[in-house]
Amino acid sequence: MISNITAIFLLIVSGCFISSSYSLSPPSNYTWPQDSKKLCFAAEFDLVLNVDYLKSNGAKASAKIPLNGSTYESYRVSCSTPATVHELTVSMLNGFTNILLSFSVDAKNMTSLKKIYGYITFNDKQTYFPDYAPALEDVHLFSSNVSLFETDRGNSYRCDTKTTVTGFNTTSNVTVTSVELENLRVQAFADDTKEFSNYGVEKVCPADADKNSNLIPIIVGACLAVLVVVVLVAYLIGRRRNRNGYQSV
Ligand SMILES: *[C@@H]1O[C@H](CO)[C@@H](O)[C@H](O)[C@H]1NC(C)=O
Ligand SMILES: *[C@@H]1O[C@H](CO)[C@@H](O)[C@H](O)[C@H]1NC(C)=O
Ligand SMILES: *[C@@H]1O[C@H](CO)[C@@H](O)[C@H](O)[C@H]1NC(C)=O
Ligand SMILES: *[C@@H]1O[C@H](CO)[C@@H](O)[C@H](O)[C@H]1NC(C)=O
Ligand SMILES: *[C@@H]1O[C@H](CO)[C@@H](O)[C@H](O)[C@H]1NC(C)=O
Ligand SMILES: *[C@@H]1O[C@H](CO)[C@@H](O)[C@H](O)[C@H]1NC(C)=O
Repeated sequence: MISNITAIFLLIVSGCFISSSYSLSPPSNYTWPQDSKKLCFAAEFDLVLNVDYLKSNGAKASAKIPLNGSTYESYRVSCSTPATVHELTVSMLNGFTNILLSFSVDAKNMTSLKKIYGYITFNDKQTYFPDYAPALEDVHLFSSNVSLFETDRGNSYRCDTKTTVTGFNTTSNVTVTSVELENLRVQAFADDTKEFSNYGVEKVCPADADKNSNLIPIIVGACLAVLVVVVLVAYLIGRRRNRNGYQSV
């Protein structure tokens, strides 16, 4: 009986420990150059592309396309021309859609994401925009100027909370309503003269910092409450066993 209680106790303590330690699950990992240990660029994030378009019957349709194992095609990073711009190109939907994330470094060595742009191709070889109006069959450019994920060169940026990028200039019949970025870790302009062992000192976005400052007290509080209950139950069971023991004497 005692060993059962001890086991439950240990289980809860370890459960509390695991749930309060931070764990990162990288869904998509973009490092450059591929097959090199000296990286100029490293990033990982989840991405969702939201597109409104016109259907053949004139109705409006919304496509929500996550970057996942089926939609992803390939990626590449340009680290050299010009030296102040690092550009990640993610190719998806069989290569018919490209999304480019353009990072810049300024004279004070601050790095940030400056622009998200690219193109979407409507044609009969892709299936992600069902029943689109035939007039849309073509390439559609989109672009949005942003200023995000700013951090010192040599450091990295982390934001697990979803960042929703809007403000795309698209034609009225095909509109990129937003690009969502989540579980993001990025370091552009890494020092590629030495081996990349891990991301640099991380700057955490304000939304994550708020979340963590609330989450930890909640987890600690919940664990303490459970422990109190377990100790109480163990105490009551112990008392009952003792009393039974006396009665049988
Ligand atoms: C990311 O990719 C690089 C190179 O392709 C690899 O060395 C590294 O282990 C990957 N990291 C994760 C967390 O998967
Ligand atoms: C990827 O997303 C598409 C579009 O939502 C979905 O149809 C497909 O099942 C997903 N694939 C995987 C491997 O999750
Ligand atoms: C910016 O970073 C580069 C590479 O780390 C360094 O050579 C340069 O001196 C830095 N410039 C400033 C203004 O800090
Ligand atoms: C983004 O900024 C560039 C100049 O840096 C400007 O030419 C372009 O029109 C802007 N695009 C949008 C969509 O605001
Ligand atoms: C959106 O902006 C990009 C880059 O500024 C430009 O190439 C494209 O033609 C623009 N698209 C529309 C529909 O105005
Ligand atoms: C949008 O689609 C409608 C109906 O097909 C067409 O009349 C209109 O010219 C299109 N507008 C643009 C900007 O392509």
